[in-house]
Amino acid sequence: MARVLITSALPYINGIKHLGNLVGSQLPADLYARYCRARGHEVMFICATDEHGTPAELAAAKAGQPVAQYCAEMHQVQADLARGFGLSFDHFGRSSSARNHALTQALAARLGAAGLIQEVAEKQVYSHADGRFLPDRYIEGTCPNCGYERARGDQCENCTKQLDPTDLINPRSAVSGSTDLEVRETRHLYLRQSLMREKLDQWIDSQRGWPLLTTSIARKWLHDGDGLQDRGITRDLDWGVPVQFDGAPWGGMEGKVFYVWFDAPIEYIAATAEWADANGLDDAAWRRWWRTDEGAQDVRYVQFMGKDNVPFHTLSFPATLMGSGEPWKLVDYIKSFNYLNYDGGQFSTSQGRGVFMDTALELLPADYWRWWLLSHAPENSDAEFTWENFQVSVNKDLADVLGNLVSRVTKFCRSKFGETVPEGGEHGPREAQLMADLTARLRAYEAQMEAMEIRKSAGELRALWVLGNEYLQEAAPWATYKSDPDRAAMQIRLALNLIRFYAVVSRPFIPDAARAVMAAMGCDDWSWPDDVAMALGTLPAGHGFTTPEVLFAKITDAQRGEWEACFAGPR
Ligand code: MF3
Ligand code: ZN
Repeated sequence: MARVLITSALPYINGIKHLGNLVGSQLPADLYARYCRARGHEVMFICATDEHGTPAELAAAKAGQPVAQYCAEMHQVQADLARGFGLSFDHFGRSSSARNHALTQALAARLGAAGLIQEVAEKQVYSHADGRFLPDRYIEGTCPNCGYERARGDQCENCTKQLDPTDLINPRSAVSGSTDLEVRETRHLYLRQSLMREKLDQWIDSQRGWPLLTTSIARKWLHDGDGLQDRGITRDLDWGVPVQFDGAPWGGMEGKVFYVWFDAPIEYIAATAEWADANGLDDAAWRRWWRTDEGAQDVRYVQFMGKDNVPFHTLSFPATLMGSGEPWKLVDYIKSFNYLNYDGGQFSTSQGRGVFMDTALELLPADYWRWWLLSHAPENSDAEFTWENFQVSVNKDLADVLGNLVSRVTKFCRSKFGETVPEGGEHGPREAQLMADLTARLRAYEAQMEAMEIRKSAGELRALWVLGNEYLQEAAPWATYKSDPDRAAMQIRLALNLIRFYAVVSRPFIPDAARAVMAAMGCDDWSWPDDVAMALGTLPAGHGFTTPEVLFAKITDAQRGEWEACFAGPR
């Protein structure tokens, strides 16, 4: 038994996530966590909402709520949706927690003591009317390039030109509309990552078997152009972790907070502390996952994220942990994803384009989405969601292959032998063949899951389902029954056991359906089929079961057309 720490990139608080966000980190992380638990490993699976930064402030302002209240409500919404999708976090924390405030400040203090923090003077736009410095996207004005009147301080949306706030003609505050602005000097703390280039380089080089998508991004940032620049880790905002050390402000930093990308990954650790607090456990309970001097030396730590998050996890966050000089557990493996596109374009949160987690669950149960998303995960390239492809996958894989086997077997048994596992004779050569085939496929499935090859794992699971269907097709107990009822009984006994076997091995992908099937089989034995032949003897003759309701309903052409049309524009 191993100990596995799994984190998913933290979803921003600013709204409900779309299916592209979901498949880029939380969902595959859940798949892996469920698989590791099924194999008997001790798992700590952590996620949280990423609650700081300008996006949170802007979203709260748009919702007309104080930011703290907005975050509290949206955290609950996201937690409920996560539960709806079966995401089995051990804890779903909040980056605004007291634990994260304390840990972020403590780590910054260590970095300061190690000489890795530097004060830098910068010029920024100050708004008298708002009484604050305005970050780039809080400033609007006319684009000097194209004349668009609502260009933002960082970029013109119309002509895409990258801008500095000082480039804008007639700049005004996006908060109040005030034009009473002034360029002022402000001081910020910088993390001197450049001093750690060598260390980070060695650390990345020493990683074996990381996916190319991960290492190529990390190397690019380490070596290309301006490479590993020192980064500002503070901001002139109200909402965030105050720049304080041991309760005392850092001189000149009053009223400032840490940059969201500084405190967010620290929340992986803090959320584990929140988990301990929520369960009435002491600090040792979470530290054994994170401190290599307190037990974490035995932990394997895996992170899941979209490709845009890779630089922060291969460089900035390790720099924070290494730079502290404390024995924090560093990541062992980073699984990163490309993007999922939506029907010929991109998913877009700002434009409301695509299917979002809330509406998805209103249309269909979570397992339909889980299966499609995971079996089409954007691993080696970007992937695309189309309604047609979704319909085909659901109807073929879930309804025709898995669902059909479950319903045919249970219904036939009920009609001929009643709702108990029939006795029948001994297995013959065809059954031995099935066991051998299942064993080979199951070992392949395990290997793909261990390698976190999500699509290939789905393919192996589907192949396991197909083997059962082929067996049933050939054995044809409904035909056998007429000439040799005893043999038909044996075939059905095996097939009922096969259903339980499928519940166990399919559970990481489709946990709700797996639970329903297991309950119908009147069984609670989720042990992994290390020995397939033995596993297929779990339900003995005479064991009662119930015939389940339709496991997966087919998506009709009418539904598909309706959804296609309904989701064509912004929501
Ligand atoms: N909120 C970020 C995003 O959605 C991810 C943060 S991951 C963490 O891109 F490292 F900060 F936790
Ligand atoms: Zn422009």
